[in-house]
Amino acid sequence: MYEKHIFVCENKRDPFAPRPSCGLKNATALRNSMKDLVKTSCPSRKIRVNMSGCLDRCEEGPSVVVYPDAKWFKIENEDQVKQFVQEYLIEGKSAQSLAMEEK
Ligand code: FES
Repeated sequence: MYEKHIFVCENKRDPFAPRPSCGLKNATALRNSMKDLVKTSCPSRKIRVNMSGCLDRCEEGPSVVVYPDAKWFKIENEDQVKQFVQEYLIEGKSAQSLAMEEK
């Protein structure tokens, strides 16, 4: 059982598709960075970072959702990966500047 399970959307659509896709916004590299950072920053915690398919918040992405918290985030670059790991996972804050609107 994981304490937190983080899903990072890596869905890739054709660049000319009507909806955008997280996989075309560097999501795979961001997930890999997040995974590495979680491993080094929180070694004793059971936190898993996985890729996911489309989470249906394509226009807001790159989309990240954390369970069991059911919290959604938009994480666009390496600095935001660091901010997310530090504020949300390590300090237990809301990381509000990265949060998506509640639906
Ligand atoms: S493509 Fe990422 S949420 Fe749909």
